[in-house]
Amino acid sequence: MTIEHEKSEKININAFQNDLISWFKNEQRDLPWRKDQDPYKVWVSEIMLQQTRVDTVIPYFNRFVDWFPTINDLADADEDKVLKAWEGLGYYSRVRNLQTAVKEVKEKYNGEVPSTPKEISQLKGVGPYTAGAILSIAYGIPEPAVDGNVMRVLSRVLSIWEDIAKPSSRKIFEKAVRELISHEDPSSFNQALMELGALICTPTSPSCLLCPVREHCQAFFEGVQNELPVKTKKTKTRDVQLIAAIITDPTGKVLIHKRPANGLLANLWEFPTVEIHHPLQNDREQVISLFKESMDLEISLNPIIGQIDHVFSHLVWNMKVYTGTSNIPLKEDAVWKLVSFDEMNEYAFPVPYQKMFNLYQKSLEE
Ligand code: ADE
Repeated sequence: MTIEHEKSEKININAFQNDLISWFKNEQRDLPWRKDQDPYKVWVSEIMLQQTRVDTVIPYFNRFVDWFPTINDLADADEDKVLKAWEGLGYYSRVRNLQTAVKEVKEKYNGEVPSTPKEISQLKGVGPYTAGAILSIAYGIPEPAVDGNVMRVLSRVLSIWEDIAKPSSRKIFEKAVRELISHEDPSSFNQALMELGALICTPTSPSCLLCPVREHCQAFFEGVQNELPVKTKKTKTRDVQLIAAIITDPTGKVLIHKRPANGLLANLWEFPTVEIHHPLQNDREQVISLFKESMDLEISLNPIIGQIDHVFSHLVWNMKVYTGTSNIPLKEDAVWKLVSFDEMNEYAFPVPYQKMFNLYQKSLEE
């Protein structure tokens, strides 16, 4: 008999399911992706919610299903428009993978999201969590959907001291869910675990006195709810030094550049940017030659207008911001565009460049 098996034997599974699910049915938040069980919408919501908070996701979700109401609409959409719909949410590979996957669903499954673990898990970007969430919420199949929040909740309920930062830990929690999950209502069961993690069993100071499953909670019983989950710190972020410039032409249009198709922020748009690997001595002259060498731009630069710092999951950008003009007529092609302020709304920019553009607009008002 395994340790995990012993753990869930310590609780009365039926009573736990009933207490958890009744609470969920009474207390669940009214969220737009809970209006129906359309597998496509469940899928979109779960991908958005993976690295992003519910409050942030709501308006993005509503706009996304408005722009792309069905699998076919998303499969056939322009990638630029899809990235625009995701602009500001971050982790853009999520939406590129989603579009790749819905194209496959359109071609291979006649537009119907597959309902078996094997088929759904083969779709791009659909990991074990997303597969379990779609199968349980949209199709009522009793599969685990274990993310960091669910691991936090179950580490407390079952007093599991495994390090949840380790990828191998997820399997232990999936096994626990397989033993606990309601076969009558797997959808409510999984969503209730998520909801409990969001509303009650929060990372710091969980509201145990309001918890519907306190009676079943091993950590509460032992008084160790604040010590769980065990989660080692992730490795330090790396600093990246960048110089970026708003380059205007004589009509006031702004030069923008499409980032490469691979790597960080792939296929999103940016203002011309160069990375510096050593501190610069006589800033402006050196910056001008860097833009010439790495982007073949011939520019004049004004004094620096400010600095933007932006934290990604594993990187920190320190971006010095300049304005300037081109010394030669600027040409457009697939990756270089000259755009008016209004036209910029058609292109998807990562958040640090939105911050940069705000800084630029403020500098114009001064
Ligand atoms: N977090 C992850 N999935 C969720 C969902 N379906 N509802 C609310 N929060 C979530």
